[in-house]
Amino acid sequence: MAPIDLSIDLKFATLKNPIIPASGTFGYGEEFQEFFPLDQLGAFIMKGIYKNRRPGNRPPRIFETPSGLLNSIGLAGPGAEELKSIIRRVRKMTDTPIIVNVCGEEDEEYLEVAEIFDAMPEVGMLELNISCPNVREGGKCPAQDERHTFRLVKLIRQNTQKPLIVKLSPNVSDVPAVAVAAQEGGADAVSLVNTFLGMAVDLKTRRPVFKNIFAGLSGPAIKPLALRLVWLVAQSVDIPVIGIGGISTGRDVLDYILVGASAVQTGTINMVEPTATLRILDEIRECMAELNISNLEQIKGALEV
Ligand SMILES: Cc1cc2nc3c(=O)[nH]c(=O)nc-3n(C[C@H](O)[C@H](O)[C@H](O)COP(=O)(O)O)c2cc1C
Repeated sequence: MAPIDLSIDLKFATLKNPIIPASGTFGYGEEFQEFFPLDQLGAFIMKGIYKNRRPGNRPPRIFETPSGLLNSIGLAGPGAEELKSIIRRVRKMTDTPIIVNVCGEEDEEYLEVAEIFDAMPEVGMLELNISCPNVREGGKCPAQDERHTFRLVKLIRQNTQKPLIVKLSPNVSDVPAVAVAAQEGGADAVSLVNTFLGMAVDLKTRRPVFKNIFAGLSGPAIKPLALRLVWLVAQSVDIPVIGIGGISTGRDVLDYILVGASAVQTGTINMVEPTATLRILDEIRECMAELNISNLEQIKGALEV
């Protein structure tokens, strides 16, 4: 059999393998460099960033559930200026593409943040986090409205050069329609999913655990839900799809590729097991050998129904 080749072609970039640690679960990359060389990854994504520093939500911010994690971090972060210096430092550690997860309270802020990082040669791609509550829309996020998604993606696409990934929310009735709106707005790829809205309550105090009542669910519990959405979206768009949700093994990665993903992001597992991505890469190779395939293209989107 031909030697196993893990590289993937995203049309706008070739990655050495399909594993991309997800935004918010991998710090700014440098925290993980002490566990393993960042060169091992296909790419990695910075924690979501707004223009200015944000303290995030009051605690509690994390609540464990069976096979999952509820989080209500509130997109805490240092602001764009500080992230620029972090990125310059991280770039010296690795050549692996750095992806910036762009946030905004309104379209103008998304654009400002996108332009700041578009101008940095150290940044490889932008991932637009369209799940941020929008101040002009009463807290609704752009992902909740196809027209808003189209408008915002078009605005960013017309004013930036770098490959643009649009990260979709699962908390809408028609995820493929939002994916199509992102494609029409000029997205180079879509990534999905962000966390599913959930909640937890405290029987003693008779109050919600989280100050915001709702929080985002991630981890193995969401994989079947996310796999379905990735399959639906992969059939609706022509641009590459990046699968996210509950990945913790190499087998999970191949499942996402089979339903049509070109690459994947690993989230919660990084917080449980910092070296998980290396184990997952080994497992992908083992799984490919068992399946007698040497390249992931051989099973991409090959699901028969
Ligand atoms: C603690 C935490 C923080 C997160 N922060 C962000 C973020 O800043 N931007 C974003 O787009 N997604 C964020 N996410 C969502 C993840 O990137 C990912 O989409 C989600 O966790 C599903 O993947 P998983 O099941 O593998 O964790 C966060 C998730 C967690 C658990």
